[in-house]
This record gives sequence, structure tokens and C-alpha cells, in this order.
Amino acid sequence: MTGFTRRNGQLYADDVSLGDIAAQAGTPCYIYSAGKIAEQYTRLNSSLQAHWQGQGNPLIAFACKANSNLAVISLLGSLGSGADTVSGGEIERALAAGIPPERIVFSGVGKTRAELALALRLDIHQINVETAAELEVLIEEARHIGKRARVAFRYTPNVEANTHAKISTGEDDHKFGLLEDEILALYAHAEASGHIDAKGISVHIGSQLFDLSSFEQAFEKVVSLIKKLREQGSTVTVADIGGGLGIPYQEDQVPFDTEAYARLISRIFAPLNVSVMLEPGRYLVAEGGALLTRVTYIKDRPDRRFVIVDAGMNDLIRPTLYEAWHPIVPVAETSGSELVSDIVGPVCETGDYFALERPLAPVDSGDLIAVLCAGAYGSVMSSQYNSRPLIPEIMTRESDWRIVRKGQSVADIWANEGIPDWKK
Ligand code: LLP
Repeated sequence: MTGFTRRNGQLYADDVSLGDIAAQAGTPCYIYSAGKIAEQYTRLNSSLQAHWQGQGNPLIAFACKANSNLAVISLLGSLGSGADTVSGGEIERALAAGIPPERIVFSGVGKTRAELALALRLDIHQINVETAAELEVLIEEARHIGKRARVAFRYTPNVEANTHAKISTGEDDHKFGLLEDEILALYAHAEASGHIDAKGISVHIGSQLFDLSSFEQAFEKVVSLIKKLREQGSTVTVADIGGGLGIPYQEDQVPFDTEAYARLISRIFAPLNVSVMLEPGRYLVAEGGALLTRVTYIKDRPDRRFVIVDAGMNDLIRPTLYEAWHPIVPVAETSGSELVSDIVGPVCETGDYFALERPLAPVDSGDLIAVLCAGAYGSVMSSQYNSRPLIPEIMTRESDWRIVRKGQSVADIWANEGIPDWKK
């Protein structure tokens, strides 16, 4: 079995008991199920293969900002995925994980000259330009290095994504991308520069989307822009349609319909004679990850029950940053009726919680709890706040498991700090 399932009352990741992992590796830690991550990739890829009627095969470039552990990127790479990166660091990570440069895309609103030069030297697949000034820097660097840059222009279609405001990216007042008129002018300028291979348009309107009509509106606007570009004599061969595919955090949410999404993509883009690329992050890895934590204390008040666990907001910030809802379950099934609980960490902030007023099966000090659907934007957004070391990451595959990132020691936290030896 893949993913997080219950057997004989115990929670497993693939065929490994989370209780066994906790006994050996300690808590808190992140657990990634290779089986579930592979299943998600395969489901999306199969839907695309089944419905795509245009040229080539759509390239899935995993948005490795969602989970940039080398083992995760490498697993997806071995299945055929590329990598969507947003910094020089992520480009180097993707390479270190074995993704070939020809499957790496570089997105991001503030790429530095050094990062653009790195991307050019490595000859990566595509750079998604988001600002006019960035294009000028890229032209200069391409001239200097003697390489042509393959470029897509990130378009802001001004479409509402119907998601949390902090993860919505496709409207005119967001910092991302370029407006239609800007792209029409920049595209022609790039083609005339002699240093840019202008490939096409990229778009990404937000994250955790279920509403296919938001995608459809954005994609239709991309089509209209591509047609205008062609009318002005520009060559467009690529549509990079971003990520954003949602996952069911709540039990009553239905899974994202990859079949309908794939049909939509084919209907809209196949007639245009462009190759299509996608940048999903969350969809591929969120459900394949859990944060494993142990109850330190229970604090009971007449009208409030606090379950204090050994992981904190520094390990998983999504609940407090986005009011995100994650499923939380005891690792060993317990009997007795659920108690409304606040599941909180040890960090000195009231915002340090994983759930508020959540019905939770009765648990006690020492019990293990799993925060599920934590494989995307979990560990990657963690910090050492309160001098808490970064925690281990563990991957399971069938009945085997490995530590894929060691936890830090406390001394690691200040390893790069120094106390100045001031001259008197
Ligand atoms: N492409 C671009 C240009 C992006 O900005 C993003 C995400 C993606 C692809 C991948 O989106 P996904 O398929 O994962 O939805 N930390 C937030 C999510 C931030 C998303 C940022 N951009 C969270 O925890 O919900």
C-alpha cells in the first residue's frame, strides 16, 4: 500500500510503521512516502498522456519550491519530471538531484544578474522573464557569455484564482508577471536582440486551485495573447501553464480532477500547435508527506484543552500563516470520544498552532500524532526560530526507509555565527 494508511490501528507510511520510525529516529520529523509521490506523478502524467492531442508530450516540471529535498526531486526526476526553480540555489539543487539542464525551468520575480548568468552557463531549458529590466540584464549576459537564452514571458492575465490571498498571483496588482501590452513589445524586442530565443508564454495564477474555470479563463487569455504575438510576426512555440493544482486537505474535498484538467489543456492548447509545459508543486508532494510529532503535555482548562506537541510553527508554518487546515491524527488509534483540542507547539507565540478547536481522539503525553498533507511547503518553509534545529526528513519506500536529511544539532544552528573580536 502507498501513502499514509492505517493497519491494525497503527498509521503506516507505505509499508513502514510510523511508530517504528519514531522509535528509531525520534520526533519531530518529516516523513515522505515515495509510493504516494510516485502515484501522484503517475496519475497526472497518465491523464496528460491520455488526453493530449497536440505536439510532443507535455513536460511536467516539478515546482521544487514545494519540497526541495534531493531525494524528492530525484524520485520525481527518475519518473521523467523536470524542475521548475526560483533561485540559483534551486537550480543547483535540481542538478544535484540529477535533473538534466534541459529539463530545468527558471521562474521568479527578482532573478539577479548572477542567477541569470548561472542559468545561461548551464544552458537550462527555459528562463521565464517577469520584468522588462530583467530582460535587458539577460540580453547583456547572453551577449557577454555568448549563449542564446531560451525565454518565455510570464503573463499576468488578471484572473481571480479563488484561493487564499497570499497564494494568489495572477491579478494586475500582484508583483508577478507582465501585462499583455508589455509582452507584445518585449517579445518583439527580445527577438530583434539577436541574443534571445523567444519561445512563448508562461502563466501561473495561484496555488491550491480546484476551480477549472479559473484555469480556463487564464488559458483562454494566453491563447489570445499568443494569437496577437503571431499576428505581429513573432514566433511562439511554447505554453508554460504553471502549477496550482489543489489537493484535498479536508476529508469532504474531492481530489483534483486530473482527467478534466488534461482534457481542458488539450482542448485549449492542442489546436495552437505549441508544446505545453506544467509546473505543479503541491499536487505532486503534499499528500505524500506528514509531520510526525509527539505529545509533550496536555493542559486542560474548563473550556479549553491544549495538546502541546514537540513540533512547532517553525517546522510547519502553514496553519498560522494561511489559516491552513491539515488533517491531524493519532498514530495509534485510540478509543473514546473525540475531545475538542488546540494542538499547539512549544514556540513562544500564540500563533504557534497546528489546529484550533479541533475534535481529536483522546491522546496523552508521549503519544505520537501525525499532521498529514504536509509534504508541500512544509519543511521548505521551516526555520530555526527559538533556536530549534531543523528536523530530520525521512523517506519510505515499500517496507524500507531512509533518513534523507539529517536533523541539525543545536550547535549547527550557530555554526556560521561569530562573536566579534573588536579592536580596542
Ligand atoms: N509556478 C510558479 C511560478 C509558482 O509561483 C508556483 C507556486 C508554482 C508553480 C507551484 O504552485 P503549486 O502547484 O504548488 O500550487 N507556500 C504556499 C504556496 C506558495 C506557492 C507559490 N508559488 C502554501 O503553503 O500554500
